[in-house]
Amino acid sequence: MVQPLEKPDLPARYASLADFREGARRRIPNFAFEYLDGGIGRDVGLQRNYSELDKVMITPRNVDSTQAPQTGVEIFDESYSTPFCVAPVGFIGLFHPRCGPAFAKRSKELGMPFCLSFASSSSTESIIEAMDGTPPWQQFYWPDDEDVQDDIIARMKALGVKVIMPTVDIPGFQWRERTVRAGSSGMPPWHVLARDIIQRPRWALDMLRGPRPALPNMAPYAKSASVPDCEAFLVERCTRPMGVGEIAKLRDKWDGKLVIKGVMAVEDAEAYTNIGVDGIVVSNHGGRQLDAAPSVAELLPPIAAAVKGKTAIIADSGVASGLDAIRMLRLGADYVMIGRLAFYAAAALGPQGAQVLDLMKLQVKTVMTQLGIRSLDELKDLKMDISN
Ligand SMILES: Cc1cc2nc3c(=O)[nH]c(=O)nc-3n(C[C@H](O)[C@H](O)[C@H](O)COP(=O)(O)O)c2cc1C
Repeated sequence: MVQPLEKPDLPARYASLADFREGARRRIPNFAFEYLDGGIGRDVGLQRNYSELDKVMITPRNVDSTQAPQTGVEIFDESYSTPFCVAPVGFIGLFHPRCGPAFAKRSKELGMPFCLSFASSSSTESIIEAMDGTPPWQQFYWPDDEDVQDDIIARMKALGVKVIMPTVDIPGFQWRERTVRAGSSGMPPWHVLARDIIQRPRWALDMLRGPRPALPNMAPYAKSASVPDCEAFLVERCTRPMGVGEIAKLRDKWDGKLVIKGVMAVEDAEAYTNIGVDGIVVSNHGGRQLDAAPSVAELLPPIAAAVKGKTAIIADSGVASGLDAIRMLRLGADYVMIGRLAFYAAAALGPQGAQVLDLMKLQVKTVMTQLGIRSLDELKDLKMDISN
């Protein structure tokens, strides 16, 4: 018998990324929405991420089996129940002060990893607590100071972190027009805050209930634990070019899993693979860094042809649904991450927004059923075409 769908616990009007985006736009202040929603330039790269994924067609097979599809995958020596997890996103306390632990907790309950940004509003320790002792995958903007690097590595080892993910696609400060205009590149000035807060009283009440915005993972290395001092540390010490030379040094220091986030060129993917990294994240940072960046749908096939099977390939940028996650896998990814989709839901619904993970999982299952596959391994046997 075919099993009925287990629906996520979401209000009926939240069924897709567009609904969560609209909910976020209505609930959080403009400066926070522009920070979350914006790309760079004219948002051409951001839109290309979605439009190129939309072109990926997969031809379903007719099968007799009513066996439920298995959405599980193995990566970094662990078995997970889904082929996707939350991407590292900074300053998430701006969307809702308690969304970090809520998303981490739901990830653990669903058998998924959770990827925590170095610039997150939650400390690694608090996320481990929310995940009942399981450490997150930990992203870094890797500082230039060797003592700080060594301290971070010792701290991560002591916390039992197994996967670290330095991001290499922020070589310098970027001029993101929408955040500049909204006054949200950095902590907004008081008059912007005051105006936006008056217009969003429910958000303001959530913020008052706390915890207060902070960047706790950076606080030990900044001049003080204040947000402006932590931001100064991030901009001055961690926003810098990173290439294979820096990563090779880190490879020598870190014996856990090392995953490089922000790889686009085939040559870079090969160079990282050759120095023994455990994975790469093919990503254009959700279209936030370079408006001319190719979409990840276009980048994946040549990168997969060069390094698939030699290092794990994770993909993000433009995943709006379970179908999109399946498309990324069919294009050559081993695993997928979601950025805006998750945090539009957090901004729209607070902790309850974590049910977006249940929705994604449901979508992956329904798409697999429709495609006639029982495991994600079978995906590679299905015919794929790219429409014009
Ligand atoms: C508001 C926002 C903040 C982000 N902060 C970080 C960060 O701190 N570290 C990082 O490596 N990537 C960061 N990213 C990029 C995401 O990890 C991810 O690559 C991107 O969101 C994927 O695209 P998508 O939003 O279309 O899913 C951020 C993205 C957004 C939207």
